This record gives sequence, C-alpha cells and structure tokens, in this order.
Amino acid sequence: MKIEEVKSTTKTQRINAHSHVKGLGLNDDGTAQASAAGLVGQLQAREAAGYIVDLIRSKKMSGRAILFAGPPGTGKTAISLAIAQELGSKVPFCPMVGSEVYSSEIKKTEVLMENFRRAIGLRIKEVKEVYEGEVTELTPVETENPMGGYGKTISHVIIGLKTAKGTKQLKLDPSIYETLQKERVESGDVIYIEANSGAVKRQGRSDTYATEFDLEAEEYVPLPKGDVHKKKEVIQDVTLHDLDVANAQPQGGQDVMSMMSQLMKPKKTEITGTEDVVSPHGIPRDLLDRLIIVRTKPYGIDQVVQIIKIRAQTEGIHIEAEGLKELSTIAERSSLRYAVRLLTPSSVLSQQNGRDVVEPEDIREAADLFMDAKTSAQMLADNPDQFMK
Ligand SMILES: Nc1ncnc2c1ncn2[C@@H]1O[C@H](COP(=O)(O)OP(=O)(O)OP(=O)(O)O)[C@@H](O)[C@H]1O
Ligand SMILES: [Mg+2]
Repeated sequence: MKIEEVKSTTKTQRINAHSHVKGLGLNDDGTAQASAAGLVGQLQAREAAGYIVDLIRSKKMSGRAILFAGPPGTGKTAISLAIAQELGSKVPFCPMVGSEVYSSEIKKTEVLMENFRRAIGLRIKEVKEVYEGEVTELTPVETENPMGGYGKTISHVIIGLKTAKGTKQLKLDPSIYETLQKERVESGDVIYIEANSGAVKRQGRSDTYATEFDLEAEEYVPLPKGDVHKKKEVIQDVTLHDLDVANAQPQGGQDVMSMMSQLMKPKKTEITGTEDVVSPHGIPRDLLDRLIIVRTKPYGIDQVVQIIKIRAQTEGIHIEAEGLKELSTIAERSSLRYAVRLLTPSSVLSQQNGRDVVEPEDIREAADLFMDAKTSAQMLADNPDQFMK
C-alpha cells in the first residue's frame, strides 16, 4: 500500500526580467495607478488586464483568448505575468517561449498540447478520514529479520499526534515510515495521515516553534483544532498535465507489447498551413476573430526612467539621476529591454572601478562591451557576405 500524491509540475522561477512585477497595481474601481505593484504607466492595457482577471475569476473566460499587441519592450509579457500574480498560484500559469516549440524530436502540436494541459487546472475536493496533529513522537520499532539473516527490520512505527483538543498514539505500518522519511517529518511538524491509504502529508512546522532560529524558509502552521481522528476536506489543485504524468508513471505489470503498440500509434494531430492566406499577427484569421486584443504603447522617457529605477531596486543596484538618464537615452536609442539588461554589467564594472554607485561612464563601458540587438542586426545587414546565411 503506497499512495503517492500528484506533485504539481509547475516550472520553477529564478530572478528574471520581470521579478519586480507583483501585480497589476489597480485601484478598487479598476483604474490603474500611475506606478504600483512594480508596473509603471501603460494604464489602459493594465485596466483591460484587470477586466480579464475579473472574467477569469468569474469563470467567464473559458473558450476565449487574449492577444497583447504592441512594440517590443512595451510590457506585454510583464502585464501577462501581472495577471498571473493577481490570479494567485492556484490558477495555473504556464509561460513558454517560441523556441520551445521547435524541435526535431517532438511535434509542434504535441508541445503546444502539453502546454495547454499544463495551463488547465482542476480543483479536487474530497472528504477524507484523517489523523491530523503535531508530531510529538516518532519511534520506529525494530524486530529481528523474520527472513532470518542479519540486520533488523522495522515492524511498525509509533507516532504521537497532538491537537488543541487532545493527543493520540498510533501504530503504523512500516510502509508509512518510508513516506514519513521521504517527507522529512520530524517531531514538531504538523502532518495528516489518510486513514484509508496511509498517505502522509506534511503541512508545515507547528507555530509553537516559530521563534526557533531557522535558516531555512519554513512554513509555520497553527496547531490543528478538533480531534486527532476526524473527517477533513482535502483540496488539491492539479493541472491536466499533472494527471497525465501521474497516469503515465509505470504501475508495474504492464506488458511490453501493449507499451510498444502505444508507442507505435500514429499521432493524428497535425496542422498544415496554406501558403496564400494572410495571417495578421501570425495568427489565422478565424482564431484572430475570437480573440480579445489588448494594445500596449511605447513609453515616454519619464516612464522609462521609472521602470529602470524599479529594476535597479529589485536587483539591489545603486544608481542616481545621471546614471538613469544615460540608461534612458540608451533605451530610447535601442530598447528598454537592452537598457534594463545593461544594469547588471554596469554595476559589476562600477564595482571594479571601485564605486558603489553606477555612473554614466560604467554604463557607457558596458554598452561598448555588449551590443544591443538592433546594432547587431544592422551589422549583419551591412556585411552580409561575412556571415553565414
Ligand atoms: N509598465 C511597465 N512597468 C514596469 N516594468 C515594465 C513595464 N513594461 C515593461 N517592463 C519591463 O521591461 C522589460 C521589457 O518588457 P516586456 O518583456 O514585458 O516587453 P514585451 O512587450 O513582452 O516585449 P516583446 O515584444 O519583445 O516580447 C521587462 O523587464 C519588463 O518587466
Ligand atoms: Mg514578451
């Protein structure tokens, strides 16, 4: 008896180009604040995005899609991420980039299908009989190996659970001990054990221990109320892709032939394009007709300065008026993204030059070292015979 919980497969996020974006920054009436939640300007698009959030929350968005249209670096991706932030982590958000779709091994439609399934969430509600509480004791009881030979095996585990109302001591099957170890359950953790399956879920550390010095980020949870043995509503948020993964895991006993025939099955989905149809935005006409289009517009210089300033703050880089001015001229000349990208190298250079504030000369030095896309593309166009076609 071993029941595993379906683990969500959301991709992990590092500090990235949009880490400063925390939400849409809207007022209660739905209008956008000039600068809030990491976003600056682009008021109309943000307001429109607010309505989209409402539509999704009120479950009126299914079967619809949104297209953000506007020049590069005008915040299309940033606003999409803000929508995801507003919706919270329970609504799956699946970012992908164009290059993920191009592979000689997997069909484009397959990649897209997987991503769609990653983006469709299900909430599973179940009433389960559980034992829940703070672990007060966790003792594996050993016995001589019944098969003979050396060593001992664990015959059962004694676990003590405490709630605000009472305590209980349970004698558990050794298979549960493995799960307890896998989840790294220790005394002082709040857990629940499903009575039917024996599945263990560690909910966090009991907040009685919240003051203890702890370097690792821990989630503290209150001591459960009620009895140790009770009925509990368990809510699990998974995506269709999570279920696919769970179902695809070998359960043992499957014969090779049926596996083979599954592998050999021809894949039927294939979209073929027609050459002479013009597709605005690179999207077929009939799909485009079904989209809501949100427009983003180029930024004014003041907004560019503000955005760069916010980025510098998020990256912990000290920069003052002159530096910001230099970067915003660069943003105007090439792109906002390039200017934002120059922040880190400029700060490294300023440190090398023995400063802790990024000065215009550091920025110029960085801009000399790292070319922007426009200049690079221009160089290619000017000297076509020197490069590979
Ligand atoms: N209104 C804004 N407020 C704060 N930061 C912004 C704003 N708009 C863009 N940014 C930041 O500027 C950078 C470029 O923006 P973003 O990547 O969203 O542009 P995009 O419209 O998606 O461009 P592309 O068409 O090239 O994909 C990102 O780091 C983004 O977080
Ligand atoms: Mg983008």
